[in-house]
Amino acid sequence: KTRVAILISGRGSNMVSLIEAARAPDFPAEIVLVLSNRPEAAGLARAAEAGIATQAIDHRAYPDRDGFDAALDAELRAAKVDLVCLAGFMRIFTPGFVEGWAGRMLNIHPSLLPLFKGTHTHARALEAGVRLHGCTVHYVVPELDAGPIVAQAAVPVRAGDDPDSLADRVIVQEHRLYPAALALVAGGKVRLEGDRVIFDAEAAQADGAL
Ligand code: GAR
Repeated sequence: KTRVAILISGRGSNMVSLIEAARAPDFPAEIVLVLSNRPEAAGLARAAEAGIATQAIDHRAYPDRDGFDAALDAELRAAKVDLVCLAGFMRIFTPGFVEGWAGRMLNIHPSLLPLFKGTHTHARALEAGVRLHGCTVHYVVPELDAGPIVAQAAVPVRAGDDPDSLADRVIVQEHRLYPAALALVAGGKVRLEGDRVIFDAEAAQADGAL
């Protein structure tokens, strides 16, 4: 099975959805480590409760991004991690770290990329007046929220939505989409060729169901 580390900074609800999906015997990935840059992240306790190894690497203990990224890289390699899933991980990496994990690092972002990169995506979607919003799972590249897209789910914007009500509708889709996308990648059904995501024949057929 593909050995996966999940990186979090906060409550870890996407992390929980990945851990739960990976409990299925036929799931192609196992979660071997949950790592947070914030020792106080609520998700660490939830991971420990689920019996997953956890680790905190406090970014405030490092003088610069290079130092933090080197420590993170060393831990991931020590744990023999094949694939990294960012799940509410709110730190920007150095290009060198990202290049070291090229094609082996996924992120979930709460918008239909390439719209609304960065933070406060739900407020900005409402501000822009879009009627469809959603979430995206993509490979991580050095440029923020810009990597090749594996999967997306759309969510209608309703009259009267505020950022919280919209976020509540999007997160339901995040919890469904991320495990499905991880299964595709870990199972070798999609792969990266240059900057394109290639689906194998079986995944292409199942794609409509994502
Ligand atoms: C999720 O909505 C995730 O898409 C978003 O943070 C939230 C984390 O929630 N990620 C980003 O904004 C990445 N830039 P969670 O900790 O409950 O999974």
